[in-house]
Amino acid sequence: MAGRVAGKKAFITGGAQGLGAAMARKLASEGAKVTVADINIEGAKAVAAEINAAHGKGTAFAFPLDVTKEDQWIYALEEADEAMGGISVLVNNAGISRGGDIESLSLEDWKLVMSVNVDSVFLGTKHALKYMRGHQPGSIVNISSIAGLIAAHNSPSYNASKAAVWLLSKGIALHCAKQKLDIRSNSIHPTFIDTPILDPLRQRFGKEEAEAKLGRQVPLGHIGEPDDIANAVLYLASDESKFMTGAELKLDGGISAM
Ligand SMILES: NC(=O)c1ccc[n+]([C@@H]2O[C@H](COP(=O)([O-])OP(=O)(O)OC[C@H]3O[C@@H](n4cnc5c(N)ncnc54)[C@H](O)[C@@H]3O)[C@@H](O)[C@H]2O)c1
Repeated sequence: MAGRVAGKKAFITGGAQGLGAAMARKLASEGAKVTVADINIEGAKAVAAEINAAHGKGTAFAFPLDVTKEDQWIYALEEADEAMGGISVLVNNAGISRGGDIESLSLEDWKLVMSVNVDSVFLGTKHALKYMRGHQPGSIVNISSIAGLIAAHNSPSYNASKAAVWLLSKGIALHCAKQKLDIRSNSIHPTFIDTPILDPLRQRFGKEEAEAKLGRQVPLGHIGEPDDIANAVLYLASDESKFMTGAELKLDGGISAM
């Protein structure tokens, strides 16, 4: 199949819904094979089935994965490598948020967010490189957040975890370059995007008011769509970005320009 990522084999975490599902659909529509890995295996299977219905059987696969568990990473990567005939793209997308300022956030929630958002990138990259070495050029795309670059008063664990992903991505880029691997590593920094991650806010203020409230913080005046991020992943997964590594792409409607 022709396309901007024809022949690529992408492993996407947190692909059962939201941004990860949009990324899987986008990469498959541009010729890649995709693995949708998620703690929500039913959701992951549904996304893979939908992609296979659109692009043919054997385009998408679904495997269960809790990104905080090393043994599950080892198993899922092995399965995906066999199913897709290799791995050339790793998208570390799974992530969570927990509210609470520095005085009210529990240690339990702090550790949970750090584990899902940061341990995931460490474990995924550590174990995926073994497979990616055999399928160069490769690309690692880490979904950080604009909250990894700009702090808020009420999201210490989310801020800290996404900042860690930002610098970890650069360290991985330098490691790969030093190893003379043609494997790039970059981070993406979205602002508010229309996915279920915003549901707690929608429940609190009502959908319209919640989205309007968030939109008022964005110079472009509204929140983003999942495809705004999926298109950036497509660019980073493709060889069009072959000279880009250790960089960050801010998709924030202008927030960081202020
Ligand atoms: N939507 C936004 O506004 C926004 C903005 C900036 C950054 N992000 C980041 O984008 C990424 C995707 O967010 P989203 O909006 O699609 O969120 P979402 O909540 O809609 O989807 C997250 C997915 O990750 C999965 N997941 C959660 N914990 C997991 C675990 N331990 N192991 C495996 N999978 C797990 C969930 O099952 C779900 O399918 C996250 O890293 C998030 O922090 C989102």
